[in-house]
Amino acid sequence: MQFFLDTADVGEIAELAPLGLVDGVTTNPTLVRRSGRDFLAVVREICGLVAGPVSAEVVATDYDGMRREADVLRAIAPNVCIKLPLTPDGLRACRALTADGAMVNVTLCFTAPQALLAAKAGATFVSPFVGRHDDVGFEGMALIEDIRRVFANYRFPTRILVASVRHPVHVLQAARIGADVATMPPAVLRQLFRHPLTDRGLEQFLADWAQTGQRIG
Ligand code: E4P
Repeated sequence: MQFFLDTADVGEIAELAPLGLVDGVTTNPTLVRRSGRDFLAVVREICGLVAGPVSAEVVATDYDGMRREADVLRAIAPNVCIKLPLTPDGLRACRALTADGAMVNVTLCFTAPQALLAAKAGATFVSPFVGRHDDVGFEGMALIEDIRRVFANYRFPTRILVASVRHPVHVLQAARIGADVATMPPAVLRQLFRHPLTDRGLEQFLADWAQTGQRIG
């Protein structure tokens, strides 16, 4: 399972990338607004920090506009993955861009039939949003299970990128289902490390070690 960071905060990415656990990054216009920075500059910096796919979203809603913006974004770095909305124009652009060798992440997926459309359009990734489903009283992970089952029937190469992840249990559930990727806010990646028994155990080991009076090396 791959872990992507869902952020446009370059400082957070620079801090977490050295852990060797960050396989890619996803951004969206909201995250760019929160960063307060220039979009193209941010994408360029992220691509310099992370070797894996860096999703950069178009804001045009028509096919020609999406193609134009995708060209600008692709010119930034070879690991830019073009993020397109799950609309007819978005999927038409997806087909054309993947045929041209680009990586494409089809975003704003909320149903299994939508994911099927993205797979048929040749998407590299499809992003079902689990947290936003949970927010409206629908079990987001049921969607991931459904998509996994549908894709298995046809051996689609499209990778399931679980998005709108809000906490570690989402990551665990996605892993149980066998989702290919989970994209998570930096805070969730940090939460994955935490357990009070880990902290307590380490504290005890260090205290006991200090009493031995020994040194390593
Ligand atoms: C995915 O690519 C989106 O950027 C993101 O996961 C959306 O998350 P949110 O629902 O917390 O805004």
